[in-house]
Amino acid sequence: MTHTIGIDIGGTGMKAAIVDVDSGELVGEKIKLGTPDGAKPDDVARVCRELVEQLDPNGNLPVGVCFPAVIINEVAFSASNVDTSWIGLNVGNLLEGVLGRPVHVVNDADAAGFAEYKFGAAKDVSGLVLVTTLGTGIGSALIYNGVLVPNSELGHINLPGHRHNTAEMLAANVVRVRKGLTWKRWAEHLQLFYSTLERLFSPDLFVVGGGVSKDYDEFLPLLSLRTPIVPAQHFNDAGILGAAALAPFAR
Ligand code: BGC
Repeated sequence: MTHTIGIDIGGTGMKAAIVDVDSGELVGEKIKLGTPDGAKPDDVARVCRELVEQLDPNGNLPVGVCFPAVIINEVAFSASNVDTSWIGLNVGNLLEGVLGRPVHVVNDADAAGFAEYKFGAAKDVSGLVLVTTLGTGIGSALIYNGVLVPNSELGHINLPGHRHNTAEMLAANVVRVRKGLTWKRWAEHLQLFYSTLERLFSPDLFVVGGGVSKDYDEFLPLLSLRTPIVPAQHFNDAGILGAAALAPFAR
């Protein structure tokens, strides 16, 4: 039985739990704290310390962290809904310094996608699984025969006929809510997004995550694709589970 800590850092909230990375189950309670105003690196690191101290006060479980940014070798190369001072920062080093234990940092959608492959809707699916998270932004994860191809950022592609808008600007769940779009109208944007991804990648399975995937029966049946498309199984915990499963020494 291997236990690690997963932390999911978002623009508004931070969540963490100890995870049994063999079974994909949370061990004990999940803790949630607000993201400090402005989501600046030192402030966020302090909240990570609080989370880890509450979960594992005297232990030294390794930590996996997921974060809404392109992450290459622990360094952030973008920043969505968090302060821009993250860009260029070695997030892994910052957090290892503050937490005093091994840390591995990955993109939030990559973590959620990996969790769906290991423990959820895409468990053991071979070939190409394309996971998208529909939330404030659109995140994506590509998993090919169980190997995560990181930082795909498919929410940032331009869709046919929309040269000035990325997929995320048209089809994120936040856009549906902000513009008061009906499910049917929103599904038209999703149709364009998923049929473009289908044409580009020919995946074996689409998995749709993000909080709105709970309402999948309102919009997935409206889509017409040749690729099977299913809702994620781990709604709010996917980031924690995937980050923990990708933590140092987790596998
Ligand atoms: C970011 C991605 C992130 C996604 C979901 C996008 O805006 O570019 O890195 O995975 O939002 O949070």
